[in-house]
Amino acid sequence: MITVIDGPAGSGKSSTARAVADKLDIEYLDSGALYRTVTLLYLQAGRDKTVFFQLLDQAKISFRYCDRQFHVAVDDAAVTDRIRTPEVAEHVSEVAALPRVRTFVNHLMREAVKDGIYIAEGRDLGTAVFPDADLKFFMSADIEERARRRYNERKPDNPALSLEEVRRNIQQRDLKDANREADPLKRAEDAIEINTTNLSFEQQVDQICLYISDLIKR
Ligand code: DC
Repeated sequence: MITVIDGPAGSGKSSTARAVADKLDIEYLDSGALYRTVTLLYLQAGRDKTVFFQLLDQAKISFRYCDRQFHVAVDDAAVTDRIRTPEVAEHVSEVAALPRVRTFVNHLMREAVKDGIYIAEGRDLGTAVFPDADLKFFMSADIEERARRRYNERKPDNPALSLEEVRRNIQQRDLKDANREADPLKRAEDAIEINTTNLSFEQQVDQICLYISDLIKR
């Protein structure tokens, strides 16, 4: 059984999906983390696509959710922290736009969810990756609110960060993610839209939990 949440950066889908997974004791899948992991390989290849595709063919990428964190490893070496650097954030949209990368990541995800009850989050899960998902949500929030959330999240580890810089970064990524040719960020027609601008975190988690619990009971 799979529930998907799609939405733009900072819409709250990651923290919400994790909280739902913890509350209902189900598995969590962070597709953005997989694109970030692949981006590490791209940077390791010196941004040379031929070398990158060779690395991609050989790499063993593994992942699991535990202790409220989505852990990722390449060839059994943990990269969970390394995928959150500004350098990865800067290049991930361009890497995620490559059709070969999308095929690779989609395959990883489809294999992973074959057993168990999952909640997965990303940009194109309800449209391209899991069009037959049992439940689909699309989370959105005003750009100002999304920038403020990301800023509050990152400021403690990055004192020089400005709200304006975060807003610009989110706007640029929104634009790239929504306008790329391969599987752009898009709301599935049958997705339930949740605008989180004026919702508390608990409210958005509870809404999704209710839908999933209803489905599990049936
Ligand atoms: O959710 P995130 O910020 O960790 O995602 C990182 C990038 O990965 C984001 O800029 C777009 C890309 N992405 C994607 O193209 N498709 C997905 N299903 C998930 C993420």
